[in-house]
Amino acid sequence: MKIKKIGILTGGGDCPGLNAVIRGITKKSIFEYNLKVIGIIDGFSGLLSRNIKRLKVEDVSGILSLGGTILGTSNIANPFRVPINDGGKLKFEDHSEGVLDYYKRLKLDALFCIGGDGTLTIAHRLVKMGINIIGIPKTIDNDIFETDVTFGFDSAVETIARATDTLHSTAMSHHRVMILEVMGRNAGWLALYGGLAGGGDIILIPEIPYNIDNICEKVKQRNLHGKRFSIIVISEGARPIRGRKVIKRIVKKSTDPVRYGGIGIKLGRDIERRTGLETRVTILGHLQRSGSPTAFDRILGSRFGTDALDLALKGEFGNMVALKGETISSVSLQEVSGRQRLVPLDSSVLISARSVGTSFGD
Ligand code: F6P
Repeated sequence: MKIKKIGILTGGGDCPGLNAVIRGITKKSIFEYNLKVIGIIDGFSGLLSRNIKRLKVEDVSGILSLGGTILGTSNIANPFRVPINDGGKLKFEDHSEGVLDYYKRLKLDALFCIGGDGTLTIAHRLVKMGINIIGIPKTIDNDIFETDVTFGFDSAVETIARATDTLHSTAMSHHRVMILEVMGRNAGWLALYGGLAGGGDIILIPEIPYNIDNICEKVKQRNLHGKRFSIIVISEGARPIRGRKVIKRIVKKSTDPVRYGGIGIKLGRDIERRTGLETRVTILGHLQRSGSPTAFDRILGSRFGTDALDLALKGEFGNMVALKGETISSVSLQEVSGRQRLVPLDSSVLISARSVGTSFGD
């Protein structure tokens, strides 16, 4: 099949490195194959509201170091579940046929969907309707199946590591327990990597429900041995052994409506009540998704972009680019959609963290 015209969209929450992918696809398409490139605005919203723009080399020049996405994104838009206000009541309609019509009208030969599990699951359904899609995995959470890592993760880890590091000085001065709550949804990758890199004393992840007695014992022991402060990095999706995750809000229109947040505050209260040690909580929030990508994410994003184009040129639609070791390979969207990659309990990083004395609250 000869490819002449391609589309690119970024869906779901943004993350550093998206622009490297857009740049990679666009530049290679134009420089090496003289293709027409169309940017879809605000993820699947652009396909529903028919909002697009032509991308030329000058549009993607100078964007490598920019955070976010020059195309805009949405973590609500889903062609199979379009929210409609029906006399004050929220209901959902399937507009996927409209998206298929628009794709045909645009005469796109391939569509690149850059997104997390929500976007890739929608992409997989659109593939089954006949749209030529190549998936590109992104998320700071690093929870996508079949790829060693997603771009965005490294940048967010850097932010968490720096925050964990920085908290040490005030923790030491005031002899306090400092808690840093980080993102990651149901996966503990961000807390594990960021906490280890920043020298966190206790790291709490969703995969290992924590025992509050063990945490209190650990901070008390540290005090007894002269370390009169403790730094705890906790995933937003963590929970105590006999407790629940803390939900911050439900975004009804979103494909994945649950937003976690606040477990750090609960933990702070529990530690202070049980140990009498002064405790403060920082919720790092969207700083983790913001700012300029690290060199690693710029390189991975560029490689994903250029290699995704190769997949399209070979006609390997319905697949996603993935990093396996040093190699960019391709995996079926079928294998990826609707699944979450969690931290395995025998993870070598986790074991290494335990070996340097990090507690996981178990
Ligand atoms: O999936 C990325 C992520 O940043 C999660 O870590 C976090 O739980 C969620 O998105 C936050 O979503 P929102 O931007 O809707 O608050």
